[in-house]
Amino acid sequence: MSALSTLARRLEEIAAGRVFTGRSLAPLTTYRLGGAAAVLFEPASRDDLSLLTRAMRDVGLEPSHVPVLVVGRGSNMVVSDGGFDGLAVRMGQGLAWIEGVAGSPRVEAGAATSMPLLANWAARRALSGLEFTVGIPGSVGGGVRMNAGAHAGCIADTLVSAEVYDVDSGAISTRPASSLQLGYRHSSLGDREIVVAATFELTPDDQAAIKARMESYRRHRADTQPGALQNAGSTFKNPPGDSAGRLVDAAGLKGHRVGGAAVSELHANFFVAGDDATAQDVFDLVQDVQRRVKERFGVELEPEVRFVGPFVPATDEVTSR
Ligand code: EPU
Repeated sequence: MSALSTLARRLEEIAAGRVFTGRSLAPLTTYRLGGAAAVLFEPASRDDLSLLTRAMRDVGLEPSHVPVLVVGRGSNMVVSDGGFDGLAVRMGQGLAWIEGVAGSPRVEAGAATSMPLLANWAARRALSGLEFTVGIPGSVGGGVRMNAGAHAGCIADTLVSAEVYDVDSGAISTRPASSLQLGYRHSSLGDREIVVAATFELTPDDQAAIKARMESYRRHRADTQPGALQNAGSTFKNPPGDSAGRLVDAAGLKGHRVGGAAVSELHANFFVAGDDATAQDVFDLVQDVQRRVKERFGVELEPEVRFVGPFVPATDEVTSR
């Protein structure tokens, strides 16, 4: 039995959450693409999650040697057709919770909480600061890790701290936002530091104004972006002072296709997978568009979407990120 199967067995024994071996990750991502994870663990609670390090040690695995992937709501990743040869973690419903802090405009949320749900919770209490998340199909944990943003707002604007589980040491600690190196779609957190919960400092505001902002953001999305399924939002980060969508569009690439993946006709920074697409098609399309935009405008676009597992680059040499 492989070391990862032994780990799965141990997790089944000691954890309350569900454990799967060889489970496809495709249904857990918005792209609906890609292969299986060697092990998929759905911790039922914070305590359950923290059993992970112990389970690894129990079966003689050095935690830092086990590849870990935090799936979140899978809205910003492409899992390779070959899958992920490691331990994938997807937070269970017990980690989806929202709690106001009595007498203060602070709110705490579990990592599995959907960001739009949190935005609506805050709006109902006339608290402003998270309206921009209303159309982001991700989780609070993923939002913190990526410093998710839209409409000139981002998570860093209101994040006070995040509770983080360190897979390698097994410790859970509260990290002030200032220690997370939050930048444009960036934080210092990797897959070995799993966000468990986050605290936000919101601002009391007129409820009608909050709702109006949310409605205008929703409308902007509906008018300018394809729906959340079979894509992962913006493919590239915007280069300084410009827009990746504008550049891809200006290069004449709307509708450009590789296999079953195509540049959206609605928004050129969204790459949409048809029913016949493979994850490799999306990867090839990203590389092709990157090359064409570089040739045309001299701009090196940097992917915002994460590629997980092995992909075959244009040079035919196998890479894994
Ligand atoms: N544009 C084009 N052609 C296109 C798409 C856009 O010319 O096909 C032009 C637009 O006309 C506009 C400019 O590019 O002048 C910017 O477009 P848009 O307002 O759609 O915003 P964006 O910069 O493409 C960013 C975020 C989105 C977020 C929107 C709204 C990034 C990489 N993307 O998109 O975030 O929803 O602003 O605030 O920062 C995401 O990160 O996944 C995401 C969807």
